[in-house]
Amino acid sequence: MPSTIKKIFSNRKNKETSRNKPALAMGSRRFCLTLLLCSCLSPTAYGEGLQVLHWWKSASERQAVNVLVSKLAEEEVTWLDGVIPSGSGVGASIVLRSRILAGDAPEVAQLNGVLISEWDKLGLLLNIDAAGNNGKWEKLLFPTVLTLVRPHGHFVAAPLGIHRVNTLFYNRLLFTRYGLVPPRTWAEFDHVATKLKRHGILPLAQSSEPWQVMSLFETLVLSEGGAPFYRDLFVNKTASAFADERLGKALQHLRYLKKWMAAPVLERPWNAVTAELAGGNAGMMVMGDWAKGELNAWGHVTDEGFGCTAVPETAKYHLYDIDTLVMLATQKSFRTAQEKLAKVTMSGKVQADYNQLKGSIPVLRNPDLGKMDSCSLASWKLFASGAQAQVPSLAHRMAADEVTKDAMIAEVHHYFLDDRLSVAQTQRRLGVIARTTARIK
Ligand code: GAL
Repeated sequence: MPSTIKKIFSNRKNKETSRNKPALAMGSRRFCLTLLLCSCLSPTAYGEGLQVLHWWKSASERQAVNVLVSKLAEEEVTWLDGVIPSGSGVGASIVLRSRILAGDAPEVAQLNGVLISEWDKLGLLLNIDAAGNNGKWEKLLFPTVLTLVRPHGHFVAAPLGIHRVNTLFYNRLLFTRYGLVPPRTWAEFDHVATKLKRHGILPLAQSSEPWQVMSLFETLVLSEGGAPFYRDLFVNKTASAFADERLGKALQHLRYLKKWMAAPVLERPWNAVTAELAGGNAGMMVMGDWAKGELNAWGHVTDEGFGCTAVPETAKYHLYDIDTLVMLATQKSFRTAQEKLAKVTMSGKVQADYNQLKGSIPVLRNPDLGKMDSCSLASWKLFASGAQAQVPSLAHRMAADEVTKDAMIAEVHHYFLDDRLSVAQTQRRLGVIARTTARIK
């Protein structure tokens, strides 16, 4: 590890104070006992305690996290919850970076996408080969996930699940009532939206939170240009792609879709948008399938209260977002507990239970298909069909570095909010971001 990085981890003052924070609540008696012990005794009295920094706070996210907490407790390790609630981890990422710079890194953090490879190069991440090699992860994982968690020949991240971002949710009760069919093309989408509007229903639930605008926009890029064009733009950052008329069309489409959204489009958390669909105020929503986990947690059964399908004209693609935990290379005394957590994430039962609650699919080539509903099964089959179907989400850190992602999200958000900004101007600005960030690298 570089010496500067070693220093970063050396300031462990006040550690015990934050470590004594209680873990999150969960149903089992065993965990209540864990909580009791945590609040009275030092963390080491009940096995080892690990601080885990993550951003999952919604009903389904808590349920999914609880699967990890209880399995970890069976290994005599306490999950010390460091939740920084923030859609897509915007706030959590800032806190994580600040804590590392302050020399107070947590033992475990939710760190997704391209950052894994970058932080591994910096020597920030713990090598978890013991868990990965003993657990035969190489054989078990989808190749794309394997590359993500083993970027430079060593395992440095523990994979949890795969979300599909290009998911169109629709309220089934409304669709049945008005005789509507889930749209496969944008022309069909307009037809459905027109009918919904005529019946006084908001056609498309959407938030103006920057990452949510980008999540919608990237699906439009995918539908407009397909995977090769999408990769040219967001992965390879090819200059000519930013001047391409397909990018212009996707931008126009984004603005056009405002016609079907509430005016103004308010900045709301993703679960508030999901509640609008669940309550029947809105007929459709484009959202990653974490919304499915949430709808299920609220008592809405897949294919009964709601349905999901691909965003129009993107059916052959899986725009993916993979959730992962990394173990930070902090004090040696945490190693065993950190390795235990890594092992827990890949247990077949945890993969099945966690992903069923979270709305995602297991990272495994041969998972338990029995627990999957129709949306998950379709997602898993498409992802399993191979690399040509898999497209990395920019909004969710899978396609580009953090600087590129943040700058592009800001630009698209600005364009979405301000109708005076022209398509050509926005294309030029996105092109400048691509050129400058390419130079930084
Ligand atoms: C994604 C994350 C999901 C979910 C979503 C909404 O980036 O991978 O698990 O948390 O954000 O916050």
